[in-house]
Amino acid sequence: MVSKTQLDLNVKIMKEQIREAEGKLGVLIPGLGAVATTLIAGVEAIRKGLAQPIGSLTQLGNIRLGKRTENRYPKIKDFVPLADLNDIVFGGWDIYKDNVYEAAMNAKVVEASMLSSIKSELEKIIPMKAVFDKTYVKNLEGTNVKNGKTKLDLADAVMEDIRIFQSKNNCTRMVMVWCGSTEKYIEPTAVHQSIQSFEEGLRKNDPTISPSMIYAYAAIKMGIPYANGAPNLTCDIPALIELSKETGTPIGGKDFKTGQTLMKTIVAPGLQARALGVNGWFSTNILGNRDGLVLDDPDNFKTKEVSKLSVLEQILQPEKNPELYGDLYHKVRINYYPPHGDNKESWDNIDIFGWMGYHMQIKINFLCRDSILAAPIVLDLALFMDLAKRANMSGIQEWLSFYFKSPQTTEGLPPVHDIFKQLMKLQNTLRHIMGEDLITHLGLDYYQDMVESL
Ligand SMILES: NC(=O)c1ccc[n+]([C@@H]2O[C@H](COP(=O)([O-])OP(=O)(O)OC[C@H]3O[C@@H](n4cnc5c(N)ncnc54)[C@H](O)[C@@H]3O)[C@@H](O)[C@H]2O)c1
Repeated sequence: MVSKTQLDLNVKIMKEQIREAEGKLGVLIPGLGAVATTLIAGVEAIRKGLAQPIGSLTQLGNIRLGKRTENRYPKIKDFVPLADLNDIVFGGWDIYKDNVYEAAMNAKVVEASMLSSIKSELEKIIPMKAVFDKTYVKNLEGTNVKNGKTKLDLADAVMEDIRIFQSKNNCTRMVMVWCGSTEKYIEPTAVHQSIQSFEEGLRKNDPTISPSMIYAYAAIKMGIPYANGAPNLTCDIPALIELSKETGTPIGGKDFKTGQTLMKTIVAPGLQARALGVNGWFSTNILGNRDGLVLDDPDNFKTKEVSKLSVLEQILQPEKNPELYGDLYHKVRINYYPPHGDNKESWDNIDIFGWMGYHMQIKINFLCRDSILAAPIVLDLALFMDLAKRANMSGIQEWLSFYFKSPQTTEGLPPVHDIFKQLMKLQNTLRHIMGEDLITHLGLDYYQDMVESL
């Protein structure tokens, strides 16, 4: 436990030590598919004044500072020193050779007319050769793939790509956000337990070291912040957590919180707050993009299912509230349905009960656009991860749980899924590093005559 005085001292030191966001920020993305190309197209369009950064907390969110009576609500980007969108340079890897314009056209998320107005910028971004292993993503067949005798050679090749990218684009800093396909479900093994065993595993081509772990290792080894947007096991293994502390690197994951889970973490805290019972939550989805195709394989679906299921249990806590949630039945289904493309449709049937046990139902039919919801999350994560690095924060960045379906936490610490608590944590972390008072929302002093204690 850190004492209050120590905390105050840390705050002072933190604020003074945050380095300015000077120069170019390289945003490196393994997986230039629907999410990544929608992000890049959006940032290019925003730079040209053709679009607004809707859904991005770093660009459009405000933060209250001080007492309500002070009326201080700056934009987050005016409060903390974040990289400017004009200073971002994108790069990435993919198993297909398509440049970002072609990949965005294929993804069919952003309209062709919009893409044509930023075509020259998008065409310049050509994917580097990927680290790929078909046993992790059975439904894809790639040609733009690296060869290496060992997994360590592949990690070295990724590091070399990064160095070349950095010098070519004159970047002062870099971050990496995994937007690649969801890999098959695996559990941690002995090789994942320490950096020594992991590096040995890289040399010996251990089959439980996945491609995403190789990218993560390369980034973290170089001190480049790493965020995992997919649900697969990557930087949430002891070896890479240890490495992140050694190299002073912020890490975080996993699985961008978009569509259905976003709704779940908005609605469930409300029901729980009113002590309403829930005995059934059936969630089904149809989607037709490449992500849907990958998730059509049972091994890859299992990775997603585990990530999606954890949310409700943690918010409702059946073991603490058996009268309300002891019989909770939670089911999640994802079906691949090509005609819908990236426009995922989800249905939730929620069986709830109220006073004296009377039964009610809530139905949610969300016709969402998956990548439109995910793109601003990638942007915010890149900017906040870069801030964390400049503020000398390293290891798991739990304050960024807000963006993830399955937030990574220190071992033994349960994650927080309630989106309102996550937001409070994120905002208080920003206040903390900038030396502002934390906000508890107590506010008794506004309306209560305080009696001096004797
Ligand atoms: N769209 C969302 O709302 C959302 C939400 C949460 C998580 N995610 C996750 O984000 C990821 C990206 O989603 P998407 O819709 O862009 O999928 P996508 O299939 O359009 O893009 C993924 C890309 O990754 C590439 N890829 C696969 N393995 C790779 C490797 N080893 N190295 C480099 N590239 C590789 C694929 O070729 C593809 O182009 C998926 O894992 C998805 O589950 C998406």
